[in-house]
Amino acid sequence: MLVKKAAVVSLIPAASLAATSSQTEITIDLQSRYQSVDGFGCSQAFQRAEDIFGKYGLSPKNQSYVLDLMFSRERGAGFTILRNGIGSSNTSTSNLMNSIEPFSPGGPSKPPHYTWDFYNSGQFPLSLEARARGLPYIYADAWSAPGYMKTNQDENWNGYLCGIEGESCPSGDWRQAYANYLVQYVKFYAESGVKVTHLGFLNEPQEVVSYASMGSNGTQAAEFIKILGQTLEREGIDIELTCCDSVGWKEQEDMIPGLQVIGSDGKSAEDYLSIVTGHGYSSAPTFPLSTKRRTWLTEWTDLSGAYTPYTFFADGGAGEGMTWANNVQTAFVNANVSGFVYWIGAENSTTNSGMINLIDDKVIPSKRFWSLASFSKFVRPNAVRVGAVSTNPSVTVINNGSSDASLTINLGKTNRVARTVTPWVTSNDYDLEPMSPINVKGGSFLATVPSRSLTSFVTECG
Ligand SMILES: *[C@@H]1O[C@H](CO)[C@@H](O)[C@H](O)[C@H]1NC(C)=O
Ligand SMILES: *[C@@H]1O[C@H](CO)[C@@H](O)[C@H](O)[C@H]1NC(C)=O
Ligand SMILES: *[C@@H]1O[C@H](CO)[C@@H](O)[C@H](O)[C@H]1NC(C)=O
Ligand SMILES: *[C@@H]1O[C@H](CO)[C@@H](O)[C@H](O)[C@H]1NC(C)=O
Ligand SMILES: *[C@@H]1O[C@H](CO)[C@@H](O)[C@H](O)[C@H]1NC(C)=O
Ligand SMILES: *[C@@H]1O[C@H](CO)[C@@H](O)[C@H](O)[C@H]1NC(C)=O
Repeated sequence: MLVKKAAVVSLIPAASLAATSSQTEITIDLQSRYQSVDGFGCSQAFQRAEDIFGKYGLSPKNQSYVLDLMFSRERGAGFTILRNGIGSSNTSTSNLMNSIEPFSPGGPSKPPHYTWDFYNSGQFPLSLEARARGLPYIYADAWSAPGYMKTNQDENWNGYLCGIEGESCPSGDWRQAYANYLVQYVKFYAESGVKVTHLGFLNEPQEVVSYASMGSNGTQAAEFIKILGQTLEREGIDIELTCCDSVGWKEQEDMIPGLQVIGSDGKSAEDYLSIVTGHGYSSAPTFPLSTKRRTWLTEWTDLSGAYTPYTFFADGGAGEGMTWANNVQTAFVNANVSGFVYWIGAENSTTNSGMINLIDDKVIPSKRFWSLASFSKFVRPNAVRVGAVSTNPSVTVINNGSSDASLTINLGKTNRVARTVTPWVTSNDYDLEPMSPINVKGGSFLATVPSRSLTSFVTECG
């Protein structure tokens, strides 16, 4: 990864380094411009925000420390996207996210019974802390409508929004009520001082699970996007709409034709969307989605691995730092994403589901965290990915090989080229640490990239 003035980023196509490395030349091509970047992030949904605020004993000092690691660019990763869950639960027990309308007002056209606790399962104070550290994007996403708006009368176990194509309920058509409800959530945040920048209404609609979940195919999602989009327009609310947080990239691709159907008003649902979102679980982001909209990978993690914080590379396991460096690289280079959002940022857990583990008063950042941080700290919103070509197609600045690699990197002949370049290294030995600056001569420099490492070359422009 090469970053110049934080305005462009070059991600050299990932592949593993041959065991015998030879001198390799990489040329940055500032003329080849690809997608622009919104950034990197995580979620603290399902009360994980409360883990940060001391639910399991984190001291105030370490609460600030973990917030800095996540959201401060100077002291940590400087994540730019926080994905909050819009709760659908009628209680706050266990890890449930409470709804702003926990109980039915009696029917879809009855005056709604909204309630706001300025807490939102810890996510509202977390949003304030993240914003104070510079986070620009708050993505509010609902896993489900409240149970009383759904065919199965339950926030869990899938079920559909009453009134959506092919689904009806004795209580009536709740489509407009659900749109009003999402708008009210955004208003509660705004009135309390936090602008929600992105709004979604689905999560993994393909899955039938015991927690909050709601079904939808592309046609049904398109129908609701238009209702929500028009409601936001009527209310004069400026927000970026997203869809559909499918369980995998392929599943999200399958929903897109439905979103692109042009209605009698001459518009498609895609016209109302800013970002098409998908997850990485059942299929990874390895190809561009068939949309002109920007795309974000909005959730992915190693759900099953026992917590492995200190391994950047051992054997390519699902929780290793190197694996996530490659996942990010592939998503940006091969799948054309503009955003990459890991599942949980910090939590008290015994698995790799989060990037930072909180046990009692201990804060343990994993190598997965340092991998995302080494992109996030330097590849800032509105950066543009530019091209890079290598004489050795098996070399990448993510060095996945077992030998050190010698590189010649050509920055291109512009009058803005740097005088020095600082390599920041993440590996088994380093947690995103700066090495000695390298002098640039005639627009190029020589560097050695350690085996099994991720290196960000950062220029200080002269
Ligand atoms: C990195 O190396 C490991 C083990 O040598 C291999 O399993 C993995 O597929 C490689 N990753 C890439 C992106 O080449
Ligand atoms: C609360 O929500 C649960 C889960 O959807 C549901 O089973 C239960 O009926 C709801 N309780 C009330 C009083 O609405
Ligand atoms: C989505 O489901 C509805 C209701 O069953 C159906 O009418 C529609 O054809 C489906 N759309 C797609 C793209 O499968
Ligand atoms: C990549 O995404 C951008 C939007 O960010 C889009 O304009 C472009 O067409 C996409 N490229 C490919 C190859 O899909
Ligand atoms: C918190 O983490 C510790 C250590 O991994 C574990 O023993 C404990 O069960 C966790 N608590 C919760 C509520 O997850
Ligand atoms: C904070 O976290 C660090 C790192 O896990 C730990 O060593 C320390 O004891 C914790 N508590 C305080 C008050 O610093």
